[in-house]
Amino acid sequence: MKILKLLLPALMVLGLSFSTAWAAGQLAAERGEAIFNDPDFAGISTSCSSCHHNGQGLKKVGEKTGFNILGETEASLEDAVNYCIAIFGNGQAIDVDSPKMKDLTAYIKTLR
Ligand code: HEC
Repeated sequence: MKILKLLLPALMVLGLSFSTAWAAGQLAAERGEAIFNDPDFAGISTSCSSCHHNGQGLKKVGEKTGFNILGETEASLEDAVNYCIAIFGNGQAIDVDSPKMKDLTAYIKTLR
């Protein structure tokens, strides 16, 4: 009985932190989707979604480990996003560790 008294709260805390982490991931992806559809993001000439309509060309991109765009090798998803911002969008690359990049990549990883 004593073990249950100890185990139960521990399990509850564990469950709560898992669901909190899940909800945080959901919110990040939702913010990322808004950025993806934003025509004014990072000074780009047109939104990500106008070229990648319905995530076109980005399905399962979150699972890739290497990127090659127009013969240029990009080491990470963040670098590939910045390449797109600068080269295709004519915009200003953003900090790879910024909250906006985290939200954007969280959304891209939901595309399958
Ligand atoms: C003007 C059109 C255009 C815009 C705007 C654009 N992209 Fe792209 N994107 C492309 C093209 C074209 C490719 C290269 C596809 C290929 O090589 O198969 C690409 C490639 C990518 C890749 C790499 C895909 C892979 O499989 O390696 C990512 C990630 C990406 N874009 C994300 C974005 C994001 C995020 C935005 C908005 C910030 C964006 N793109 C805006 C046209 C665009």
